[in-house]
Amino acid sequence: MSANESSGAISRDLIWPNQINRIPKEIFGDPAIFDMELDRIFYGPEWHMVGHLAELPERGDFKTFDIGRRPILIARGQDGQVRTFYNACTHRGTQVETSVCGNRKSFDCPYHQWSFDTDGALVGCPGEKEFTPGFAKANYGLRELRMEEFRGLIFVTASRDTQPLQEWLGEIAAPLTDILGGDGKLRLLGYHKVTYASNWKAYNDNDGYHAPLLHSAFRMLHWQGGKGRQIATQNGHNAIEAELSLAKGNSFLSDPSLIEFKGEDPKQGSRVVQLFPLAVATKHLDTINLRFAIPRSVGSTEVHYAYFGLESDSQEMLHHRVRQSSNLLGPCGMISMEDASIFQRVHLGTFTPGNVEFQKGVKRTDEFWFDFKQNDEASFLLKWEHYRKVMDFERRQEA
Ligand code: FES
Ligand SMILES: [Fe+2]
Repeated sequence: MSANESSGAISRDLIWPNQINRIPKEIFGDPAIFDMELDRIFYGPEWHMVGHLAELPERGDFKTFDIGRRPILIARGQDGQVRTFYNACTHRGTQVETSVCGNRKSFDCPYHQWSFDTDGALVGCPGEKEFTPGFAKANYGLRELRMEEFRGLIFVTASRDTQPLQEWLGEIAAPLTDILGGDGKLRLLGYHKVTYASNWKAYNDNDGYHAPLLHSAFRMLHWQGGKGRQIATQNGHNAIEAELSLAKGNSFLSDPSLIEFKGEDPKQGSRVVQLFPLAVATKHLDTINLRFAIPRSVGSTEVHYAYFGLESDSQEMLHHRVRQSSNLLGPCGMISMEDASIFQRVHLGTFTPGNVEFQKGVKRTDEFWFDFKQNDEASFLLKWEHYRKVMDFERRQEA
């Protein structure tokens, strides 16, 4: 059965409620829906954030990643240009590079030793004289993906129909710029990597409402008191812009310098940007974080947390950022460690019948609106509506 035939059957069976704050649970755990999401979303007309130029500062630097099941290779060529390729040999399709990151003079396929230079051109292929008549190396470079940059962020898409990146980002470009220090001139500090036992959509549904309620560190540090707002776009992005209420006088940490804020303006202290389908960029205190995520299977999501400082940072500031980043976020971070358990529990819970419901900040259940308070979960309804439309699930009256 083709993807289209199977998606048609799924669309007909699924009941997506008319009430806009209800999401059917069955979309989280169905492998056929997961396959359909790969086709329509991950290989479809969306941009995917796959890296930042600061991860590849030198000629020959590379990183590998996956978009859905498709391996990709991002490399800075000897000409200084960064390009993104499918990480598959143009001979018989072997995955060429297997390291997560590094520096190479060439990318060499082990199977028959075809060799590609760092700008993707095929430069060596043993036995060439006996290849098909008219064979030309120039036609067998690594296949490049369409790529655009924003403040050093690298986005790629598999589709020619995807709108220009700036248009796709829309009003989210402003909070994203704030997170990236204005000009996007960053310095990589390091990574955390975690695999959550959860569907990618449950991982991605991590709202502002839960933060002070689930995460005990938020309460112990007395955070989340500041003013703020959320914006959301019709194509599924959202951003939380929050003032920081700095932690004071708590007995939680024996060395409170760990959570010191050295930035200038507490109003700019906290930003969370979520880009459809699965990219996250955050700034909490002096911690700048990009989350690159891969939906591995219907119940498994791999997330690479990359931490950054600014190019202009002093050594002391970089040290502060490393210490703060590695303690605040990621799988064992003070303000996020409970998330892993919740993602899994949501995933397990969604195998029961019925819908998940959004309540906090839901003003009505029959049409959408665009102004949200800092901790409303309702802002995610626009993302769900975009998902529903891309997946072609029709709303229906529940029985
Ligand atoms: S598959 Fe790569 S050299 Fe043959
Ligand atoms: Fe969380």
